[in-house]
Amino acid sequence: MEKLRVHSGHKLFGSLKACSSKNALLPILAGSVLSEGEVTLYSVPNFIDIQKMIEILKSLGAKVTKFGDIIFIDSKNIDRFFVSHELGKDIRGSIVFLGALISRFKKACVSYPGGCNIGSRPIDLHLKGLKALGVKIVEEHGYLYCDGKDMKPTTFTFEKQSVGATQNLILASVMLNGKTTLKNCAKEPEVVDLANFLNRMGAKVCGAGTSQITIYGVEKLKSVNYQVIGDRIVAGTYLTAAAITGGDVEICNISPKYLFSVLKKLAYCGCNVVTKNDKIRLTATNRCKALQSITTGVFPKFPTDMQSAFLSLMAVSNGRCKIYERLFDGRFKQVPDLVKMGAKIDVNCNFASVFGVEKLSGADVSATDLRAGAGLVLAGLNADGYTTIDNVHYIDRGYDHIERDLSILGAEIERIE
Ligand code: EPZ
Repeated sequence: MEKLRVHSGHKLFGSLKACSSKNALLPILAGSVLSEGEVTLYSVPNFIDIQKMIEILKSLGAKVTKFGDIIFIDSKNIDRFFVSHELGKDIRGSIVFLGALISRFKKACVSYPGGCNIGSRPIDLHLKGLKALGVKIVEEHGYLYCDGKDMKPTTFTFEKQSVGATQNLILASVMLNGKTTLKNCAKEPEVVDLANFLNRMGAKVCGAGTSQITIYGVEKLKSVNYQVIGDRIVAGTYLTAAAITGGDVEICNISPKYLFSVLKKLAYCGCNVVTKNDKIRLTATNRCKALQSITTGVFPKFPTDMQSAFLSLMAVSNGRCKIYERLFDGRFKQVPDLVKMGAKIDVNCNFASVFGVEKLSGADVSATDLRAGAGLVLAGLNADGYTTIDNVHYIDRGYDHIERDLSILGAEIERIE
């Protein structure tokens, strides 16, 4: 099994382009089945989750070809509306094929999704929304059998904001004759990017990015060439790495407004943050000041996906920080390994109390999920000696060779067998 080996002692310097957003691409790949023509996506990174979504598209009968980082998807001849457990079980993104296939075929049979092991990952909000649209759903043998022949537009209010459920309902109603109104929607940039993609194909999705989204169904959706937004979590991860090492790093291809809550906290830690158009430059001091507290929330609050990186930053900052993880109940799994590296962290349910130390010590550790694994890499940038991180496949789900990116910025990191 591949590992990453990191050595500390290097401040990160230089400039890096943020790759395209994984969490924007996943629903857009599912939505490509709605085009009556060809969908071309530019600058598609080689994440494992993207590869798995492409395998699902091919299993449905779509023709998918790649030319470098450009992907061509031709769904004209898809004739299957079934997503197998084998293909759907490893990623959370497979669940949004429900909405897309129901729109295309008025039926779907999709396995329960997988996703990072960050706590319970219910899908009740997805199913309540689809049922409100008149979809009949039978849950049997680990599959969701959906019949959408009696679907009707409606007004539906989510009990709580959910990125995936909002995306699923948009996909399910975009070709449903009439007006569907969704309330208490997720406002994440990845929801907005899906709406922009669908509207470029001829859909009428209004209000994405606000809590109320109105979808006016259209009869068909045409071909489109599209470039998704930059990955705000990848960008935030590398800016946090610069903060941990006391470096000076600029990330481009990322809109600062997608990371405002993160940039504000990095500034409070004593970093100098300068933004211009789609560029963010962070210049760090030698050692960051600890934040008094970090509470994760839905956009535009502090993103849960940045919590692991900040846990490593707080572990080496000056002072004490209380971290409250409000979205997932299993997002502190990397704490035992951080403690093994010398961090002073106490976890009680969804709270972590961190007392920063100046230097961690390198150790052999294991990634438990995508962002926790990236957090351990960041801790290794500070730790004395070598840190090896195994289960690298978790990190590869959302970073396209993290070692290559960090090496460009001057880190001593390599992938070893
Ligand atoms: C998306 O997951 C992202 N994944 C996650 O990123 C991200 O952490 C999450 O949004 C929150 O921003 C993708 O986009 C593929 P939610 P999603 O539905 O859609 C609860 C990463 O590292 N909930 O917005 O599954 C849920 O338990 C991944 O890139 C229900 O209760 O998240 C959570 O507490 C990890 N019922 C809250 O809502 C449901 O039916 C928000 O979850 C659905 C969700």
